[in-house]
Amino acid sequence: MPSPNDMLQCFEASYTLGNAEMDKTHHEFLVLCLETSNAQGAEFGEKFKVLFEHTSQHFAEEEAWMKATSYPALSEHRANHQRTLGDMDRFCQRALTGRGAMARAWLSDNLMSWFDLHAKTMDSALAAHLKLKQPGSQDG
Ligand SMILES: [Fe+2]
Ligand SMILES: [Fe+2]
Repeated sequence: MPSPNDMLQCFEASYTLGNAEMDKTHHEFLVLCLETSNAQGAEFGEKFKVLFEHTSQHFAEEEAWMKATSYPALSEHRANHQRTLGDMDRFCQRALTGRGAMARAWLSDNLMSWFDLHAKTMDSALAAHLKLKQPGSQDG
């Protein structure tokens, strides 16, 4: 099971997709995951909320790019985001009311492996698509 710290250590080699905005957002996401998992007491819920808001923005940004470029796998990619964001919302509510144990376990056991796969498959495919759609691209 990769930890946020492990994933940040190999970010360059494993998670950069060649889209500067996406790479920046993904790096920020992992930093927030690390800060949240290191937070104790009431700070855990506060950090979890910052992570939730960042993730909501992260997904909305990718979905806007997909819409703007008529991305064929938009609905599949968006459904994957929605499932994760829905879970994150529920765990955030629990964490904010001092019931953080399940949220903490979900972050380390589920969210990190979800991101590992999502970045390497769905986001990687989206980054390749956006590259082709860039003005001046040799292939587009
Ligand atoms: Fe992403
Ligand atoms: Fe995504």
